[in-house]
Amino acid sequence: MRGRFITFEGADGCGKTTQLRRAVDRLRALGVDVVATREPGGSSAGAEIRSLVLDRRERPIVPVAELLLIEADRAQHVVETIRPAIERGAFVICDRFTDATVAYQGGGRGLDPALIGTLNLIATGGLEPDMTLVFDVDVSEAMRRLDRRAAESGGEAATRFDLEHAGFHDRVRSAYLDIAGKSPGRVRVIDANRPIEVVAADVDRFVEELRCRCAI
Ligand code: TMP
Repeated sequence: MRGRFITFEGADGCGKTTQLRRAVDRLRALGVDVVATREPGGSSAGAEIRSLVLDRRERPIVPVAELLLIEADRAQHVVETIRPAIERGAFVICDRFTDATVAYQGGGRGLDPALIGTLNLIATGGLEPDMTLVFDVDVSEAMRRLDRRAAESGGEAATRFDLEHAGFHDRVRSAYLDIAGKSPGRVRVIDANRPIEVVAADVDRFVEELRCRCAI
């Protein structure tokens, strides 16, 4: 049986990683074979590529270099981790995938959407998620959460993206909503301004929808 592939997406501070961990724990408790992974960083070279892309200190990198690093990580990740897991029948949950590149490098950085589309296709070999959950949060609420996160870690922003201004995060959010509008069959938008448990109930409902589709 072919497995299933679901991606969790949204602007920084949307709470998707908390929701992903919760969904993974719930599915494992039900005995489901779950592979939890993320981008950038899910391949064997991933930790190094992730720190090149996200490290907020040292080297500044130009947007095209950022795009190419992310796509290199994705190409390796798809072949090494995602496809084999889907083929053995696992339920793959990935924290960000191709939509993040459309939203961040396209919407946020302003790179050419056609170029991003081509590179996404090359890196994935055409693999698309069966379902994508976009956690949508107001930019002001997202910025508050990022500030709180930074304060909790001693006043330091976690990544280069966390340092971006509200306009950047707003463009990323709009790009995600645009993707959802164009792919209503695949993408579900979840209002992530609400409390964690309320958001989690929506996540569980959509994950179950995909599991039922899987069983048919
Ligand atoms: P995370 O904090 O959700 O793990 O994501 C790390 C950062 O990587 C996030 O700020 C967005 C960025 N990113 C991109 O800019 N483009 C991409 O294609 C991916 C996968 C992540």
